[in-house]
Amino acid sequence: MTTIPTAPMIFPTPTDPLAAFGPLVGRRTADGFDDRPYERLTVHPLSPTIGAEVDGVRLGGDLDEQMLGELRRALLEWKVLVFRDQDIDRTDQRAFAQLWGELEQHPFFKYTQPGQTDIDVVTLAKDAMTAGTENNWHNDITWHTTPSFGAVLRAVEVPEVGGDTLWTDTGLAYDLLPQDIRDRIDPLVAEHDWIATFGRHMPAEAVEQLRTHFPPVQHPVVRVVPETGRRALFVNMIFTQRILGIPAEESDELLRLLYRHVQRPEFQCRLRWRPNTIAFWDNRSCQHYASSDYFPARRVMDRISIVGDRPVGV
Ligand SMILES: [Fe+2]
Repeated sequence: MTTIPTAPMIFPTPTDPLAAFGPLVGRRTADGFDDRPYERLTVHPLSPTIGAEVDGVRLGGDLDEQMLGELRRALLEWKVLVFRDQDIDRTDQRAFAQLWGELEQHPFFKYTQPGQTDIDVVTLAKDAMTAGTENNWHNDITWHTTPSFGAVLRAVEVPEVGGDTLWTDTGLAYDLLPQDIRDRIDPLVAEHDWIATFGRHMPAEAVEQLRTHFPPVQHPVVRVVPETGRRALFVNMIFTQRILGIPAEESDELLRLLYRHVQRPEFQCRLRWRPNTIAFWDNRSCQHYASSDYFPARRVMDRISIVGDRPVGV
């Protein structure tokens, strides 16, 4: 039997405590995961641990229990499910998203996405006037006490080339940290906030008013996905402000190290969109990054996100 290493070969250099050469190989799922073959779905992996194109289903609100069970298991296993050639409309997309929980109303998009009216099916129209800005690694909505469970993103109009989305497996990233860093971060808690990102594009009165509803929140630095017991890094460079209970300098240093670590290509998958491609991801187990390389071409996506639970730490 081949033993999968739980940590990479680390050869620290004077400037890089995480310098690693050689295999960065880890587990796709936690111990005890139900890995029976899928009966209804056909799964084509995009990488060894994260992302899979899935055939055998037309998305909508009318999926039977067996299909839903397979999709739930596939989402937990692959974190990002990609469905091609889904010629469905917003109603089907919304009905599919509603199978997974309450739809999220995003309080800031009306300020940052001009013309936004339909607040729970959010259209992200990115063109020459509103070039893409999601090109920083993040989990969605971590400035909220209950960050998104996941999102269903549908490609409406995509550039001929460019505008890919990348995801990184934050469970694998956690597993492949050296043991001493895992021990150090397991009990830590971080503060998350929206002021420095969304707040930047809002009138001061709106910031002041929304502040009372959305104060800074605290989440564990390592969250445990309840269904699987899998641990995942849960700090991100756009919403996490600081780690609490340690000096500011140490917090900055640790966060920088974790942000750089999650960006390793071995933890990632990359999706080249086509019209009618849909991606459904587990926001608890991965971060995403929308490559903003297509300006001045247009990229129009319909985004729906689903309310999640309050993150639980180790
Ligand atoms: Fe996002």
